[in-house]
Amino acid sequence: MADWPGVALEHISDALFVTDRAHRIVWLNRLSEKIFGITAEEGRGRPVAEVTGMTPLTPLLDDLFEQGVPPEPAFEKVEAVIKFSGRRYFFKVAVAPVVEKAGFEGALVQLTDITRFYEMEKFKGDYISIISHEFRTPLTSVVLGVEMLRQGLLGELNKRGEEVFDAIGGDCHRLTKLVDNLLELSKIESGTIYIQAEPVDAAELVREAVRPLKIQAEKKGITLVTEIPGAVPPVAADFNKTVWVLTNLIGNALRYTEAGGTITVRVRVGTWRLFFSVKDSGCGIPPEYRDQIFEKFIQVRGPAKRKGGAGLGLAIAKEIVTAHGGEIWVESEVGTGSTFTFSFPLFRREGIMG
Ligand SMILES: Nc1ncnc2c1ncn2[C@@H]1O[C@H](COP(=O)(O)OP(=O)(O)OP(=O)(O)O)[C@@H](O)[C@H]1O
Ligand SMILES: [Mg+2]
Repeated sequence: MADWPGVALEHISDALFVTDRAHRIVWLNRLSEKIFGITAEEGRGRPVAEVTGMTPLTPLLDDLFEQGVPPEPAFEKVEAVIKFSGRRYFFKVAVAPVVEKAGFEGALVQLTDITRFYEMEKFKGDYISIISHEFRTPLTSVVLGVEMLRQGLLGELNKRGEEVFDAIGGDCHRLTKLVDNLLELSKIESGTIYIQAEPVDAAELVREAVRPLKIQAEKKGITLVTEIPGAVPPVAADFNKTVWVLTNLIGNALRYTEAGGTITVRVRVGTWRLFFSVKDSGCGIPPEYRDQIFEKFIQVRGPAKRKGGAGLGLAIAKEIVTAHGGEIWVESEVGTGSTFTFSFPLFRREGIMG
């Protein structure tokens, strides 16, 4: 009788290996033979990391065997230059336990070729980065020109003229912010920014973020308060980037809260982590959006969408917080308000603790 699953796996569009507990190859499929330039006979008995040249497979398999059967397969994106062909691949790697009736225990290693997808993503990122750069220089001179006209440096303006240039000034400001955010995001996505984590005073971070927004809050009739405990241990953070995250969360809270509302910026100390939260009494976020808004260009549909902005702030904030080894999330009730919280590891003399 034909071995249908076996035949199917031979022809699947992923490279597959089955290994024993010592990571030695027991079986491999045709695509593995083709990509890595070996026959099944040549591969059998050799460590999978050596045959593929992919060193990250070793810790992945070690973890799998150490932890027993994981609830879900472990995924990781791995770059590999194949010795045999010299080609550069990007694989999504999944490892899953193999347990047979006879008691054989091993692992299934599945390599999905995501090279094309990865290259497309990279191209998109480079494209955005180039366009943003090209926008920046002429935009700077437009901003300067508009500013000069508004101030009447090039001649008196009548009332109508002032209004027009005020509107253009506002649009220029939004466009500049959009270009800056796109550049920031493309830098993060291409891995060209690094987090310089230093011991930082959380109270100082909050003060720095709140100061420039106090006036804006007053103008809008919103109370902006801070709650910081007396003694706060230092947090391992990149000062400017963390201020950026806080500023954006408070900026959002200001944008989505009506006059008479309150925004509270709070610092709470946990055992290993420090929590920053920004609570508002604004319009709230519907449940189906609470994860999505951390993705780029996602904005809640409805009247609030018309409030300007491009939907990039939270995506950048998430990248920055994650790069610090922290997490960010939101709790919210529609009509009552939202609380955005992010955690950072505390700074310890021995290093950063998770
Ligand atoms: N405090 C808040 N209250 C209600 N909705 C919010 C709040 N913060 C964010 N949102 C929703 O999440 C969306 C995404 O926020 P994000 O900061 O990423 O983008 P944005 O503020 O719209 O634009 P940008 O930050 O690029 O200027 C917002 O458009 C809004 O719909
Ligand atoms: Mg925002």
